[in-house]
Amino acid sequence: DRTPLIAGNWKMNLDHQQAVTLVQKLSWILTDADHDFEKVEVAVFPPFTDLRSVQTLVAGDRLPLMYGAQDVSAEESGAFTGEISAQFLSKLGCRYVLVGHSERRTLHGEDDAMANRKLTAALRHGLAPILCVGEGLDVRQAGRHVEHTLAQLRGALEGLSTEQVTDMVVAYEPVWAIGTGEVAGPDDAQQMCAALRADVASRYGEEAAAGLRLLYGGSVKSSNAASILREKDVDGLLVGGASLDEAEFANIVRFEH
Ligand code: 13P
Repeated sequence: DRTPLIAGNWKMNLDHQQAVTLVQKLSWILTDADHDFEKVEVAVFPPFTDLRSVQTLVAGDRLPLMYGAQDVSAEESGAFTGEISAQFLSKLGCRYVLVGHSERRTLHGEDDAMANRKLTAALRHGLAPILCVGEGLDVRQAGRHVEHTLAQLRGALEGLSTEQVTDMVVAYEPVWAIGTGEVAGPDDAQQMCAALRADVASRYGEEAAAGLRLLYGGSVKSSNAASILREKDVDGLLVGGASLDEAEFANIVRFEH
């Protein structure tokens, strides 16, 4: 089942009070607009310190909104100062967790092996990881973007079972398109998502590949969302900057209108 997923990665923006305000406004707009959350799923990724407040609001008002964290520790528990475990996130009602976002890779030195350990930790606690992959500008210009991105996928999925792969989501986020206003064309998004799906098919079988949700991320706005989502292998969007404004994000969620 490839229900479209519109995910908002807030990055290091909005404190817990601002988070509550945004989630409230977003749910009002979408409810007023009669948004069918079964048809297009909506998820937000606030900072860790906002998650408890978001949980209280979502559970208290029974909002049909999913939420998750932007990162997770690869470790189970113990002497890992500053880390947040998958178990904690699961207990806070998180459905998803981002793994291997390009900002974690470039600013915190995370590699595919680390993404692999984080995926395993998340899956162990019933979280659906959203694995982020994608090439930088130099790789794109050298024409090696497909092999680069597939190598990231393979590295991160190493040793995972078909069942585990079925429980996750993969987001293609070309680094050159993140926060730059430079959006990959629908063709670029489609080409990479098709390559990712074909690779999963060759390793885990057609059924796993057919059910895997693939997202595109990088300078998504309400003005370009629909054209990207029209591509047949793109099942959703991972939105950064434009998810910080409830009206703009709601328009992306309502891309069909
Ligand atoms: P922008 O939408 O701000 O380009 O960010 C994309 C992103 O990194 C989402 O995870």
